[in-house]
Formats: sequence, C-alpha cells, structure tokens
Amino acid sequence: MPKMIFVDQKGARREVDAPLGLSVLEIAHKHGLDLEGACEGSLACSTCHVVVDAGWFDLLTEPSEDEEDMLDLAFGLTRTSRLGCQIVMREELDGLVVALPSGSRNNLKG
Ligand code: FES
Repeated sequence: MPKMIFVDQKGARREVDAPLGLSVLEIAHKHGLDLEGACEGSLACSTCHVVVDAGWFDLLTEPSEDEEDMLDLAFGLTRTSRLGCQIVMREELDGLVVALPSGSRNNLKG
C-alpha cells in the first residue's frame, strides 16, 4: 500500500496509508486530518488547498483550467499549491509529501 505524508500547520509530519485511486482529500478525511473540502471534490471551492512538496510537484498531472481558477481564490497560494481533491494517488506518488496551509478562505471572518 502506498503511503503519503501530511505536514500540519505546526510542521508535524504524519505518514498515512494512501490507497491507489483515492484523492489526497479523501485520504486526509479517512485519517481524520484537518482538510475541509467543502464541495467534496466538485471544483467549487478552494478549501481542499494543499501545498505540495517541491520535489513531488512535477510528478503530478497538470491542473485543469477549472482547478487553476479555484486555486487563484485559495488563501496562502504558493507556487506548488494544488487542490487536494484533484490529486489522485498512483504508484508513482508513493511517499508524496503535502503540507496543510494555515487557513482557507472559508475560515476567514469578515
Ligand atoms: S473540495 Fe472543493 S475544490 Fe476540492
């Protein structure tokens, strides 16, 4: 079973099982990690925003235009930001490292 590593807002790393075919968002939820995913993967929010470790970023499939549009709205966007619901686990991604950003738009007040 492939694994992946989530780095939380405090920098703590957690390695979890990452079944093939599940999205990073689904994997996060399966393990009770703090990644919202308000629209459940239908590309209608940016609350599943993750920051992909630079060494892994190029292995991901290119984001769709819809994903890029949504990412533009993400809080704390970085060069290696992606939407967690759009990264699907495959063999090549065994060991993938992603960080959970410190906030998302939905959490902002005002
Ligand atoms: S869960 Fe809404 S875009 Fe990923």
